[in-house]
Amino acid sequence: MKTKEDFIERVLYTEEEIDKRVKELSKQISEDYKDIKKPLLTVGILNGAVMFYTDVVRRLTIPVHFDFLIASSYDASAQTSGKVNILKNIDNDPKGRDILLIEDIIDSGTTMDYLVTYFKSRGAASVKLCTLLNKPSRRKIDVEIDYCGFEVPDEFVVGYGLDFAQHYRNLPYLGILKRSIYAK
Ligand code: IMP
Ligand code: MG
Repeated sequence: MKTKEDFIERVLYTEEEIDKRVKELSKQISEDYKDIKKPLLTVGILNGAVMFYTDVVRRLTIPVHFDFLIASSYDASAQTSGKVNILKNIDNDPKGRDILLIEDIIDSGTTMDYLVTYFKSRGAASVKLCTLLNKPSRRKIDVEIDYCGFEVPDEFVVGYGLDFAQHYRNLPYLGILKRSIYAK
């Protein structure tokens, strides 16, 4: 059996720290949308945001609808390709809806910049962005983030939904992946 020390350089945020921060975000979102007329269309960006998504939405006190999207701008390596494809689109019509995109991490900004523009062009009433993590040191395109869990350094982060080549998503904490794992 491999232990945590075999692949994690250090733990960034524990399960308890994540839980506390997510509760704060949900409270803020519920307050900001308290007068909403139609249910908030919460769009989880799969697969990375799945844990964050469920933890955020279960604590919202406003009416919500669930939807999900899969985008690819990233391949199995730790480098972004810069091009965004929607592999699975949302099921709801975005026209006239208030949309909250829920993402795991904003790195270059390419994915979120593309999706915000895309939903606005399809007639969404509003598009806001909620991300668990922000890695501002790697930004290529400026994106406005409405809700952010934590800022992280320029390191490869895994756990709580985030992967490296599909591994480590089920770790309950957020940790920095050892360079020796992805520099192989
Ligand atoms: P962006 O389009 O460059 O902002 O890339 C965002 C996507 O890259 C995220 O949704 C993640 O899937 C992936 N990504 C960026 N940095 C990391 C990381 O440190 N760990 C895991 N995935 C990452
Ligand atoms: Mg992602």
